[in-house]
Order: sequence, then structure tokens, then C-alpha cells
Amino acid sequence: MREGVLFEITKDGLETGLRGVPVGYCVTSFVDAYKGLSYVGRPIAELSNRDPMEVIYLLYYGEMGSKEQVARFQKDLNHRAHCKEATIAAIAALPRQGAPMDVFAAALLIAGMFEGTGNYREDCLNVIAKLPQIVAGIINTHAGWGTTPQPKPEMGYMENFVHMLNMPGKKTPELIQVMRLFNVIHYDHCGGNLSTFVGKAVASGLEHMYGSLAACITALAGPRHGRANQDCLEFVQSVLDEVGENAKPADIERLIREKLANNKLVFGFGHAVLRVEDARATVCYNYCQKHFATNPLVKIASLLRTEGSKVLKENPKISDPYPNIDAITGSMLMAAGFPYPNYYAVLFGLSRCVGVAIQIVYERLEARDGKGTPIIRPLYLYKARK
Ligand SMILES: CC(C)(COP(=O)(O)OP(=O)(O)OC[C@H]1O[C@@H](n2cnc3c(N)ncnc32)[C@H](O)[C@@H]1OP(=O)(O)O)[C@@H](O)C(=O)NCCC(=O)NCCS
Repeated sequence: MREGVLFEITKDGLETGLRGVPVGYCVTSFVDAYKGLSYVGRPIAELSNRDPMEVIYLLYYGEMGSKEQVARFQKDLNHRAHCKEATIAAIAALPRQGAPMDVFAAALLIAGMFEGTGNYREDCLNVIAKLPQIVAGIINTHAGWGTTPQPKPEMGYMENFVHMLNMPGKKTPELIQVMRLFNVIHYDHCGGNLSTFVGKAVASGLEHMYGSLAACITALAGPRHGRANQDCLEFVQSVLDEVGENAKPADIERLIREKLANNKLVFGFGHAVLRVEDARATVCYNYCQKHFATNPLVKIASLLRTEGSKVLKENPKISDPYPNIDAITGSMLMAAGFPYPNYYAVLFGLSRCVGVAIQIVYERLEARDGKGTPIIRPLYLYKARK
């Protein structure tokens, strides 16, 4: 390739979802096809046990903070954590019909009306701080779980979120641990995943932070993206229903072959970038083996992990025959005591907005020596319909 050329555009590359086409820089994270996700150069496995505030600090400032720095950052965010009453009342008045992700997008637009400052950096910090209350409000409203309690951010980022959820049943320490883990591993996934790219594209027209994040959430809502964790759980449940929790590997293998023969997807497998098991999935499999090894869904998801790859590897057209993050997170949330799959994509969004907001700050205020990236405007070639 000529010097300075990163990518050759050929006609065959058109209408293929911009796969592998470089469009800019991401300062927060990177996805290596073989090593998986890293935040600011640190593998996700190293960070998955950290406190959410430490990881948000890392993404926001580009370095690990000292204990004092993180404490100061947390204090600042704690001051920003309470939404105005008008915001919460408007979210609580949203309709309960339809998909929770639609309520999420609407809630972000509402939050922008009452909480927006028009300053990307301020709004980034504000929205990160307020997301637990906004999202608890969305879930409580949609599920009909009643009035959202006042935030207690001093409890910790995800502890506060779980505190505000009015879910029936017991909130165990394991649930909080799993919510923290889920939150940390979903913050960011480089710059080109659909929800991040869309959020940044909308911000490139100088739309404000909340509107840009509302667009990010609608992009995340689709079954090929953020909602895949719900579909994957349904898939694991359907396999469990069919073969039972004491199934042998051969039973699972037979079922996968049947599905492929019927042109069905094997959910939880494949990725546009990764060519190995998703490092985030590995973290969750390990966590589940340690804490929920006897849970029936976890047992089936673990069998699928090996049998799925074995069968999918036989098909050369499948670029990545390994489990992705969604193969296990649904089973993990169920096992941890949050049996409400309708809200799993919302939990993904609660986390993903953090990375996208920080990437928007970079693109609007720091890129190109502070000038910001220009409005997104790729080229489409004209072609007459037949
Ligand atoms: C994730 C996914 C959308 C990536 O898509 P992609 O980059 O186009 O994947 P590939 O290049 O490997 O696809 C090549 C072919 O293999 C098929 N394929 C890929 N993963 C597959 C899977 N898990 N089960 C069955 N077929 C699969 C594709 O449908 C495609 O078939 P086609 O040529 O007939 O259209 C895809 O692997 C998928 O649909 N996986 C199952 C759903 C899922 O787990 N989603 C969560 C994503 S994090």
C-alpha cells in the first residue's frame, strides 16, 4: 500500500457496513481482534474488578487516578447526581407501552431539556453522575414499580443505582457485584461500534450531549446490537427448555447443528471485529463458574461456549466462531437475581453512555488541536435502481 494509505476502498467494500475503514482516533479504548477490549491500553480483564468510579476516571482523564484523585472525582460527581424534580416527574409520566429503550431515549431528551448546560464537558460529567437516577426512573416507570427513591451517590455508583431500583425480591450482595461488573465492562468498545459512532455522528452536527446520547441509545436498541443480550438469553433458555440442565455436550452439539441446518443464528457467537472469545465474556464466564456454577442457565451457557465454537468453526464463512459478550451476560444477570431481561439492553445503555459521552467530549473539544472533528459526511455513489 502507498505510504500514508491506511485502507484501500474498492467497489466490493461498499455496502459492507464500513467494516475496517479507519475514520478517526479513539482516545478511550481499543478492540484488538485477538486481544480483545482495552481501556486506555489496559486489558479489560485487569479492570473488571475495579470500582466503577476508578474506571470512569481512567476513561475520562486517560490515566489511573490516585486514591485521593478518584475520591475528589467521586465527590464532584456526587454533587451532580441529583436530577431536578421536573426531570424525574417527566420521566415518571412517560408511557409504559413499547420498548424500554424507547423510554430511555425519550428520558435522555427530557433530561437535556431540564438539566442541559450546552457545554459538552459539563454535560458529560453531569450525565454520567445522573444516569443512575435517570435509568432507575426509566425502569421503575416502565415496570410499574412505583416512585424512584432519592439518590444516595455516597453509597457508590452502582450501589446507588441498585438502591433506587424498586424491584421486587431481595437485593443480594451478589446482585450489586454483578451490576458493577456488567457496568464496568460495557462502558466503551472503541469508536466504531454502532451506538458510539451514531452518538458521535449526531454530536458532529453540534447537537447537544443529551440529544446525541438519545441517538446513541436508539442505535443500541436494535437486536443486532444492545438488545442482543436479551435475544441471547432467550436462546440459552430455549436450549435449556429443550435439553434440560443435565444435558451432555453431545445434546448441545446436536441442537446447534439442527439450528444451523435450519438457517438459524447461534446467538452469542460471532463478532464484527473479534477473532477470539470476547475478553469480556471470559471475565463473565469465570465469574459465573465461581459464583453460579450450579445455575441451570449458566450450566447451559457454559456447554454452549465449547460446543458452539466447535461446530461454528467448521463453517469458513463465519469470521468469528467464538462467544461474544452477550453469550453469558443474560444468564449471569438472571443468576444474580435480576430476572428482568426486558431491561438488559437498558443496563447496557446505562453503561455505554459513559464511554460515548467521554468520546463526544474528545471529538468536540479536543480533536484537531481543540477545533473538533467536522460534521460527519461520508460519500455515497449514485446508482440507478434496476
Ligand atoms: C455478531 C454478528 C452480527 C457479526 O456479523 P458479521 O460481522 O456480519 O459476521 P460474519 O462476517 O462472520 O458473517 C458471515 C456469515 O456467517 C453467518 N454467521 C455469523 N455468525 C453466526 C452465528 N452466530 N450463527 C449463525 N451464522 C452466523 C452470518 O449470518 C453471515 O451469513 P451470510 O453470509 O449468509 O449473511 C453475527 O456473528 C451474528 O449475527 N451473531 C449472532 C447474534 C449475536 O450473538 N449478536 C451479538 C453481537 S455482540
